[in-house]
Parts: sequence; C-alpha cells; structure tokens
Amino acid sequence: MTEILRTALPKGRLGSEIADILKKAGFLNDSFKDSKDTRKLVFEDSESGMRYFWVKPFDVPVYVERGTADIGFIGKDILLERNPDVYELLALNIGKCKICSAALNGFVDDGMKPLRAATEFPNIARDYYSGIGREIDIIPIRGSAEIAPVLGLSDVIVDIVQTGTTLRENNLSVISVIAEVSARLIANKSAYKFKHNEIDELIRRLKEVDTNS
Ligand code: PRP
Repeated sequence: MTEILRTALPKGRLGSEIADILKKAGFLNDSFKDSKDTRKLVFEDSESGMRYFWVKPFDVPVYVERGTADIGFIGKDILLERNPDVYELLALNIGKCKICSAALNGFVDDGMKPLRAATEFPNIARDYYSGIGREIDIIPIRGSAEIAPVLGLSDVIVDIVQTGTTLRENNLSVISVIAEVSARLIANKSAYKFKHNEIDELIRRLKEVDTNS
C-alpha cells in the first residue's frame, strides 16, 4: 500500500520555488495554491500520495522533528540555526543564497565594545563571531534586519543575501560570507523508516527535474 507523505512547505519565496519543482516532478495537482494566493493551509493530492501544509519557514523543522509532517522542504540557513534531529536527504539547486554579515557602507569595527549584531539567526551569528574571537551583543529581530544598522539599532546584521538588492537599496554591504545555503529535503527519522519507498521515489523524481544536480 502506498503511504501518504505529509509534507511541510515553507510559506514565502522559497515555498513558491519548491511548489514549482514539485509540480514539474508531477507531485502537485491543479487544486494546489501558493501561500501568497490563498489562506488555505492544507492541500491533498491523493493521486500522487501527498498532503501539503503551508507553515512558517522556521516551523518546518519543528513539524518534521515531531513527526506531524513526515518530510519538509526548508533552507539550509534554518537547519543551521535550529539544528533539528531529522534526516537531511537532498540538497536542491533552488533557494540558493548566502548567510552574510553586513554593515553600512564604510563601517569600521574599532573593536572597542561588543559588536551589536541584529539577526534572525542568533545561533549562526554566535558561532561565527566566537569562531573569529569577536565579542558580540545579539539583538534578536524578526526579518528585515537591514533596517537595524540604518536606524542605529545595530552595528552589523547577520542575514540572508540572495540578489543583494535589499543591501544595496539600504546602503549596506557584505562584510563576510558565513555560509552558502540552498533548499533541503528533510525527513522525520521514524517516518523515513516506514515510508522510505515513497520518500525515495520522491527524491528520484525531484533529482530528474532539479536541473543542475
Ligand atoms: C530575505 C532576507 C533579506 C532579503 C534578501 O528576506 O531577510 O531581507 O531576503 O534578499 P535580496 O538579497 O534578494 O534582497 P525575505 O524577503 O525572505 O523576508 P524577511 O525580511 O521577512 O525575512
């Protein structure tokens, strides 16, 4: 018997790219709607054996780790930040971006006081700055980190850079690239045991359409 794969998808830009690749691979029917076009959160495609949930990106690993979802699609940035106890099964060639530290153009760190770092990724920021021996004061914020140095809330940000437009348009530039990231397929550990045939078939078909892999 074919098992239904309960699949957590991240709302937003990455989720749209993932929906496109799932469609190409034949895992989405026409009733499916992108999170930007609907308030409906659950979609079923019984023909291809999939049930999809739109959730906030940071929550994808929570649903998968706890087994509410069998699998999920999420950026490596969130996996690095949350370090969930899940299997990371596939790296896709979508959602490619970088986690960077950045500051206002011309910013010079005089090293006198702890560096104020505004970020949605406190663990990544802490690991990176402790690795280079620089003391920091983390200022946790939820998205749009680029505004923090502009308003004087922080000296630097640690955030995702994709096209670089947000940095450019706010007079910021990259200081250092902390990690290159892309979309990943993750699985709940026990779901992978029981549903590995279905998951392996999904991986096989995703690889066929994930053109640069
Ligand atoms: C992300 C990130 C940056 C932006 C960078 O935000 O936090 O703000 O993308 O992209 P760019 O280099 O192409 O300009 P997102 O749009 O995902 O929303 P958020 O600000 O709510 O995190």
